[in-house]
Amino acid sequence: MAHSDMTLEARLEQLQQQKWFEPTPQFRERSLVADDAMHREADSDFVAFWERQARELDWQREWTQALDWSNPPFARWFDGGQLNVSHNCLDRHVEAGRGDRVAFHWRGEEGEERDVTYAELLRDVQKLANALRELGVKSGDVVGVYLPMIPEVVVAMLACARIGAPHNVVFGGFSPESVRERMEFSDARVLITADGARRKGRVAAVKSAVDDVMGDLRSLERVIVVRNTGTDAPMTDGRDFFYDELLASAADACPAEPFDAEHPLFILYTSGSTAKPKGILHTSGGYLTQAAFTHKYVFDLKADEDVYWCSADVGWITGHTYIVYGPLANGATSVMYEGAPDYPDKDIWWELVERYKVSLFYTAPTAIRACMKWGVEYPQRRDLSSLRLLGTVGEPINPKAWLWYREVIGSGRCPIVDTWWQTETGAIMISPLPGLTKAKPGSATHPLPGVKAAVLDGNGEEAGAEQGYLALKQPWPAMLRTLYKEPERFIETYWSKYGRDTYFVGDAARCDEDGYFWVIGRVDDVINVSGHRLSTAEVESAIVSHERVAEAAVIGQADEDTGQGITAFVTLQGAQDGTDELVGDIREHVAKRIGKLARPKRVIWADDLPKTRSGKIMRRLLRDIAEGRELGDVTTLRDPDVMAQLSASIARHEDDEG
Ligand code: WT7
Repeated sequence: MAHSDMTLEARLEQLQQQKWFEPTPQFRERSLVADDAMHREADSDFVAFWERQARELDWQREWTQALDWSNPPFARWFDGGQLNVSHNCLDRHVEAGRGDRVAFHWRGEEGEERDVTYAELLRDVQKLANALRELGVKSGDVVGVYLPMIPEVVVAMLACARIGAPHNVVFGGFSPESVRERMEFSDARVLITADGARRKGRVAAVKSAVDDVMGDLRSLERVIVVRNTGTDAPMTDGRDFFYDELLASAADACPAEPFDAEHPLFILYTSGSTAKPKGILHTSGGYLTQAAFTHKYVFDLKADEDVYWCSADVGWITGHTYIVYGPLANGATSVMYEGAPDYPDKDIWWELVERYKVSLFYTAPTAIRACMKWGVEYPQRRDLSSLRLLGTVGEPINPKAWLWYREVIGSGRCPIVDTWWQTETGAIMISPLPGLTKAKPGSATHPLPGVKAAVLDGNGEEAGAEQGYLALKQPWPAMLRTLYKEPERFIETYWSKYGRDTYFVGDAARCDEDGYFWVIGRVDDVINVSGHRLSTAEVESAIVSHERVAEAAVIGQADEDTGQGITAFVTLQGAQDGTDELVGDIREHVAKRIGKLARPKRVIWADDLPKTRSGKIMRRLLRDIAEGRELGDVTTLRDPDVMAQLSASIARHEDDEG
């Protein structure tokens, strides 16, 4: 039967039988990596390998020591070297005559288009850098950024980098209360935000909402407001300034001053196993080296020809490394879209691929599954023939979604790079090299050159073919350097299980008979909802802060759309009955505390929670009961009857849902 005569279902089913997926000869012929020379080079001397990659950047002073690992787990890369990150992302391209190249084809929600060139970015970055200095920002001062997906967010980040002020970007989907917390933890002196933000045709006031929670935070001295939606923004005299007015009066030139390779570039808060988010600290030279290297080789970037699009939000590490630093360091042309994937319609992404002739497209498995649900008619409305490579990140991709992506979006012709990494690793660690690697759907395949990964058992021995814990066995340039102001927590979280020279990832994984890595999911109390990382403790603490709640336990439950969904077991105060109205109220409360992304999908009323005699909540039992599994050992429970009551409550819940 000819390929085109087959229904998609039948074709996908047929492909499920296929073990290997090789790049097409056309792709391989032109790919940057077509043999294992780079792997061999890195295997023989990984430090020298990374040094060679670092030389791709402009350094104002050469390093004296490529890697200092004398005090693990505190690594120093390219010590003695000096560079300016914003110079590497902007000036050097403009100086080489590429100032007119488009850095971002920006598309607004209502269809507005703005092409921002490298020269324009450089102009605005210098002005904003000067304005920040005028406002008293010095090297080392933390600057908060809370902005929607507009070009100004890139200007803000690079202006900070230019003057050595670490930025602390908070994803626009987090609530103002989360912003406040993160500004407080990082002692941010300045916050750059917007009057308002647009989402699916509606406008939300941002500045006034920020003001509502930021009132008494002393450390925050200045607020810069980008006029984005024209929403009324209350301005406090002497503290608040409009971005456009600052730029209009700022001096044009801000020479790129050299900073040490280990100068902090940014802090990015992410969820850990406690309610307090972790401030992941990344520095300059090593981070940029690996960001640029991975962006070039994993996406097979030809900066003169390709149009690249990473659909993430800049507020996540994916946006930092693969919207801002990697692509700009490589002089790439990218697409940036302000809106949601289904607004104004479910074909908007494919419209943008056609419009800008996107050749490299990078997104999350959850988005692919949403597209599958919406149906093939949306991508089929558009010409996607410009695409030559597809990528995924954020969570394990199920083989069915992988095959759908390959067939429907990539027409069977584009290699898929399933990239495994974390906020902590700073850059992609395990991924196919698209012209070289034979892919297996659902596997991130192999560690990249310069990266050493292993699957270990509880004692630190190689787990063989068994499932175990993913670990990284040698330092890498883009690794986190510490947790901001919490070095002990840094050691405890990542470097205590296997010792100071082996990084404990927190993911379960398996290495198969062909040496392919399969990342299974988190082993700690971190939940992954649509590729967004949340901690059970953080959500619990938000729920418990609701006045009518006595206690709560939160688990991540398998969900076919979002990977995991949040289920909350909630005990109310006194003898109240749980109502639908109260469910809505609790969800709203969590949205206000953390952000809409943290709202529990299911709320199950519990008279009591399963606890050990020492009072520790047994989440394992909650997961078993929520997913309808046989319950394991319940003899250690203080009150074994709790489980029967919970089963009844879950059954009622399922009845209500119909
Ligand atoms: C966690 C890190 C890396 C940027 C986005 C998420 C999971 C990430 C994959 C993948 C399987 C993946 C892991 C990891 N994860 N990529 N390709 N296959 N799992 O960054 O918020 O720091 O989350 O996301 O569990 O530990 P993050």
